[in-house]
Amino acid sequence: MSKRILVFSGAGVSAESGVKTFRDYDGLWENHRIEDVATPEAWNRNQKLVLDFYNQRRRQLNEVFPNEAHIAIAGLEKNYHVDVVTQNVDDLHERAGSTKVVHLHGELKKVRSTSDKSLIYNWEGDLNAGDKCELGSQLRPHIVWFGEALNQDFLLSAKNAAEQADICIIVGTSLLVFPAAEIPFYIQQNCKLFVIDPKANELNLPIKGKNVFLIPKKASAGMKEVVEWLRENGQ
Ligand code: APR
Repeated sequence: MSKRILVFSGAGVSAESGVKTFRDYDGLWENHRIEDVATPEAWNRNQKLVLDFYNQRRRQLNEVFPNEAHIAIAGLEKNYHVDVVTQNVDDLHERAGSTKVVHLHGELKKVRSTSDKSLIYNWEGDLNAGDKCELGSQLRPHIVWFGEALNQDFLLSAKNAAEQADICIIVGTSLLVFPAAEIPFYIQQNCKLFVIDPKANELNLPIKGKNVFLIPKKASAGMKEVVEWLRENGQ
């Protein structure tokens, strides 16, 4: 039976594709304070600003492409059972070919009803005031904003994937946003853990000791190293 790999990713895995990370730029995200664009309060205060912000993010997705890291992660499926659990709202893992991706914080290319959160629709273009669900309520971005609860089924399946993992690759996340950042803490002590991040040495990690491999590099170079290590060590 093939070994199980959990890939836990954050904004850093998409950085080389040209998607900005959240915490690397003076607390601003694409020139906006997070409180102004990514909270329920922001939505209640200024719907147009929030819609415009996510419309820009969605448009940006059409201009960016998966990078070598996304592609290497997708390639792992040739030899392993791979679960990707991502905090990212872009679709670059899927476009690289990953088939099992859990988006803990939602997806840019989906929108949902403001009156019934189970009414979720695929969405390619801009979302505007007046765009409504089948019940007649305004649609909003399908994004988990600060202060909102994560999908409990997704959290559970991510925890299961972590508990069962033989190998865990944490890539491009500051591990600062909970509960998402809890996920890798569910891996077992004997799981091999690879941590790819230019700031890998500064992160709060789930396990310590000989099974932990810190790779303080960008995602693409780091993934190359992991793939080589797995091959050379017959994993
Ligand atoms: N390759 C790998 N890692 C990188 C790269 C790169 N090229 N560039 C930056 N990084 C690392 C940074 O060192 C940092 O540790 O990526 C991490 C990005 O951290 P954050 O910006 O905090 O992003 P993330 O951990 O995904 O944020 C979690 O917070 O704002 C919310 O909901 C949003 O999903 C997001 C969550």
